[in-house]
Amino acid sequence: MRTLITGGAGFIGSHLVDLLLERGDEIVILDDFSTGTADNLAHVRDRVRLVEGSVLDAELLAELANGVERIYHLAAAVGVHTILDEPLRSLKTNIHGTENVLDVALRNSAKVLVVSTSEIYGKNTADALHEGADRVLGSPLVARWTYAAAKGIDESFAHAYAKELGLQVAIVRPFNTVGPRQTGRYGMVVPGLVRQALRGEPLTVFGDGSQTRCFGYVGEVAAAMIDVLEAPAAQSLAVNLGGAREISILELARMIIEITGSSSEIVLVPYEEAYGEGYEDMQRRVPDNRLARELVGYEPRLPIESIIAAVVEDTRAAEALVKGTNRR
Ligand SMILES: NC(=O)c1ccc[n+]([C@@H]2O[C@H](COP(=O)([O-])OP(=O)(O)OC[C@H]3O[C@@H](n4cnc5c(N)ncnc54)[C@H](O)[C@@H]3O)[C@@H](O)[C@H]2O)c1
Repeated sequence: MRTLITGGAGFIGSHLVDLLLERGDEIVILDDFSTGTADNLAHVRDRVRLVEGSVLDAELLAELANGVERIYHLAAAVGVHTILDEPLRSLKTNIHGTENVLDVALRNSAKVLVVSTSEIYGKNTADALHEGADRVLGSPLVARWTYAAAKGIDESFAHAYAKELGLQVAIVRPFNTVGPRQTGRYGMVVPGLVRQALRGEPLTVFGDGSQTRCFGYVGEVAAAMIDVLEAPAAQSLAVNLGGAREISILELARMIIEITGSSSEIVLVPYEEAYGEGYEDMQRRVPDNRLARELVGYEPRLPIESIIAAVVEDTRAAEALVKGTNRR
């Protein structure tokens, strides 16, 4: 199978690459390395074609998509810091970039997976968010909400391309996804806290730490993405992919301290201090995974303790590598 992966040098994208190589796909990756890195693909570097460039470059995209049968669209401006610091680039990437991808998919009669996000539910704190749940977003003039707004437009675009032009498309909405290779640099909570614990620095928890999340393991989420794109019944649907256990960020921080054996303390940091005045966080984000279970048998299995242990091991290895490089 000839396959194009946008954002394939990123965290989730690089795990998807591993699984698709196992399937025997011939893979082209387009990534601008804004938050991803070629290091994530170092172990498969001679088995993929990795092209540096942007999904905003329609000409390059058309060239790379020529003759592909599958497109996995993960390229996006991600992370709270990226969205707050560069709202314009983020909006362009997350709206026009997706439109470009849908366009080349249609021209090549390729099946395309649009990777959306659980963020689109916004402040809806329902018990378990099903795919038809209402979206509760703040003002479009607040940069924080533009990520959810753009991803929502992406889904609507995908749906319209399918309905009016016959594009074969499926949409997934991952909830917080974690695992090896995720960087803490752009505001992702698990790798950030793990790094602080390993360095003996205070673990910074925003707000009072009572906000909850359900963390999914990247290997399981990436596998489900592949299955969703192949499932005929998933055509034109949006499918949640979330973790199993609801956990508060304070509890998560305590668990990380225990697993790393760190002597660090936990420090509560007001949201305004971290992200500026008027920042709003979601108090809860719990997925309803029933559709994914019905369609592709998705079942998040790896417990959060094991996920954290995998991140700790990966972070230790990465930090040892950096120290080794610095010594040379
Ligand atoms: N990690 C999560 O918890 C999570 C949750 C929900 C949705 N998602 C979605 O999953 C996808 C992958 O996210 P991730 O967590 O792996 O983050 P990531 O930052 O590691 O991956 C995004 C990749 O896209 C690349 N990219 C950004 N702009 C680009 C552009 N204009 N052209 C080409 N490449 C570009 C980045 O360099 C990076 O490699 C994103 O679409 C994100 O919105 C992630």
